Amino acid sequence: MLRTIVGTGYERALRPLLFKARGGDPESVHEDMIRALSVLAQLPGARDLARLSTRSASSPVEVAGIRFPGRVGLAAGMDKDGRAALAWQYLGFAFAELGTVTAQAQPGNERPRIFRAPESGGLVNRMGFNNHGALALANRLAVAGVFRGNGAAGIPLGVSLGKTKVVEVEDAVADYLASFDLVHPHADYIAVNVSSPNTPGLRSLQDGGALAELLGALTTRARQLRAADPVPVFVKVAPDLTFDQLDEVLGAATDASVSGLIATNTTLSREGLAPSDRHLADEAGGLSGRPLTARAREVVGYVAGHTDLPVIGSGGVMTADDAKSLLDVGASLVQIYTGFIYAGPALIASINEEVR
Ligand SMILES: Cc1cc2nc3c(=O)[nH]c(=O)nc-3n(C[C@H](O)[C@H](O)[C@H](O)COP(=O)(O)O)c2cc1C
Repeated sequence: MLRTIVGTGYERALRPLLFKARGGDPESVHEDMIRALSVLAQLPGARDLARLSTRSASSPVEVAGIRFPGRVGLAAGMDKDGRAALAWQYLGFAFAELGTVTAQAQPGNERPRIFRAPESGGLVNRMGFNNHGALALANRLAVAGVFRGNGAAGIPLGVSLGKTKVVEVEDAVADYLASFDLVHPHADYIAVNVSSPNTPGLRSLQDGGALAELLGALTTRARQLRAADPVPVFVKVAPDLTFDQLDEVLGAATDASVSGLIATNTTLSREGLAPSDRHLADEAGGLSGRPLTARAREVVGYVAGHTDLPVIGSGGVMTADDAKSLLDVGASLVQIYTGFIYAGPALIASINEEVR
């Protein structure tokens, strides 16, 4: 009952307000939300209320040696600097992927850099890894008492790593390793982001040879640091890869003994935009949400069908049915970003109920 109120309340009342707030600038609203959530995590009464209104029964699942309390997580990019790391549990998420952070702090692209495609249920973004750097995230998590496996955030936390923009692609391995060394003590898993369309050259790291070198370096470092129990490393892929390219990725991932894949990131395609959102086709960046649903499902299905590695499905999960269909084609877990913006926290509970 309370959940239905939260669901319809969000879609009918809060979302229209949020979409108009701050002069209609999605990024300012996003910053306010992260600030509010970081405060919420400090207020016992607010925490309890949030927990109560988003509560749903979910079944725990073990993936890559990590115990997840349910199957729905927060996708990377929402909480780049981990400011709300302690809050996501109260909205019903079973895990959250912080970041993407880079070894050097960087401002990202010029604003505006997020655009809503409301008729299409989509977003176009070209944030460009704006973040305060891996060291700032590591410090924030340390101060919050979050260390790998200690459950201090209530749910497992992954940390997504990307390449610093000013670092040449040829020097990417050292750059990722620098971030890895800083954040690994605080991460239940590491996600290697080589699939954002907004850092020039980044996606070339998905090519077989380059990817094998990068993933090999990271998994080797993970074993050097904790031979008995290395931190699981996942690699996140783009939906725009061909099946041949996905085969290459799978080869590199298997050779490097990564723990799993995340499919997919945002797409460069502009298919699926409603006529009233067509003007966004000319904005540079990655498209997410409803226009990505079908392609993400196809890629998740392909990847899951061609490897024994676990797959985290991400892309266009706007309803509980979308989540179920990613799980049906082989995903072990799902993540949401754009669906959370359009449907609010009630989406998490309805997925939990659908897939339990
Ligand atoms: C504004 C925005 C920022 C994002 N930033 C990141 C990021 O930093 N790292 C990353 O791996 N993915 C990032 N993503 C991609 C999401 O994690 C997700 O994979 C993608 O949006 C598809 O899921 P969705 O359709 O549920 O949004 C971002 C997406 C959006 C909309």
